[in-house]
Amino acid sequence: MKDFYVLHGDILYADEERRIREERDSYLVVRDGKVEEITSRIPASTAVLDYDGCLIIPGLIDLHLHAPQYQFAGLFMDKELLEWLNSHTFPEEGKYADLSYARKAYSIFVSDLVQSETTRFSAFATIHEDASLLLSSMLEESGLSGYVGKVNMDSNSPDYLTEDTEESISSTISFIERMKDFKNVRPIITPRFIPSCSKRLLIELGKISESRHLPVQSHLDENISEIEWVRELVPESRNYADAYRAHGLWGREKTIMAHVVWPSDEEYELLKNSNIYVAHSPSSNSNLSSGIAPVRKMLDSGIKIALATDVAGGSSLSIMRMMTHAVEVSKLYYRYVDSTMRPLTFSEVFYIATRMAGSFFGSVGSFDEGMDADILVLDTSGIHTSIYEELSLSERLELYAYRRAGSPLKAKFVKGRKIL
Ligand code: GUN
Ligand code: FE
Repeated sequence: MKDFYVLHGDILYADEERRIREERDSYLVVRDGKVEEITSRIPASTAVLDYDGCLIIPGLIDLHLHAPQYQFAGLFMDKELLEWLNSHTFPEEGKYADLSYARKAYSIFVSDLVQSETTRFSAFATIHEDASLLLSSMLEESGLSGYVGKVNMDSNSPDYLTEDTEESISSTISFIERMKDFKNVRPIITPRFIPSCSKRLLIELGKISESRHLPVQSHLDENISEIEWVRELVPESRNYADAYRAHGLWGREKTIMAHVVWPSDEEYELLKNSNIYVAHSPSSNSNLSSGIAPVRKMLDSGIKIALATDVAGGSSLSIMRMMTHAVEVSKLYYRYVDSTMRPLTFSEVFYIATRMAGSFFGSVGSFDEGMDADILVLDTSGIHTSIYEELSLSERLELYAYRRAGSPLKAKFVKGRKIL
């Protein structure tokens, strides 16, 4: 495709004030992979991709998912986290020692992720360096953009999924070096969670992140038994977050902490004004009976939030579905837990899934001049209602999210490249 083109349709994006901006029957101008402007007139001598009647929105961001778990997404939801890891998750991840299995399974995953609403992601792979590199190259090839972490586990894990500490460190470095020429997909330091890493491993991973300026991803405060276990394993730490901080893994570089369902008051303080993004996973938190994350409270405290599927805790790759789940569970929180915490609104979750999460990747997540052209084109013809013509563009988007999340997309662009 040429470096200069326009998309025509009904354009929506989130502004800094968390409102949805609407530009009906307009042109989104893309040059050299970046957004140039939105205009109501056709710019001269430009290729026009006409999506008349479709909704054109920024790409959605999945800031936490487990690629090797996709094969059993939608199954085994009758357990809580620690039991679920041992009975289903670890045995499946163990299979990725076999590259031919990894190739087969990751092909399915990448092909479905390309079809999904996700343009940017941060994914866990497994402990296996070769399979993690294979996943990274398949994603690089797909045109999607994001981070892949070779997972680190040297403690409290089954034998078939436990690394020798020194090997875990050297294989992490080797994974990073083998990815040096990748453009769309970058490595991220990935201690699975506190229980699966020794102190030495955590400290060394902190050093690797700092010396190579690599982001970090892990899990925090997901499940009550997990938090209790961390307290027993690291009694000298004041709380779960402090256990990461003590090992140099707390926001020195950009950091993703998945879940944060049960933050203590002290942990709120550690999360505020930090380099940490909380990856809110409402579907996973319901499926694994983890609880309801206090997203309103975190947002009002100035904590950065993104949405995440957490596949296979979450059963779906659709971040648009996570938007509506996030609204729904915030209403349960308001009703059952704390009536001072207003439910999230649709425009807030749209803002979170695009603009707020996008800032993790740089100038990404909306249609400001100069932002990366990550774009979804939504076909609204599947929405059947007699009132459609009366609706504003934001109402049409809301209706699409509730009724059509996960449906096939009309088109998808990442950094200006049309990948679907
Ligand atoms: N905590 C540690 N590992 C995992 C995982 O694979 N999924 C979820 N949801 N939580 C975890
Ligand atoms: Fe997870």
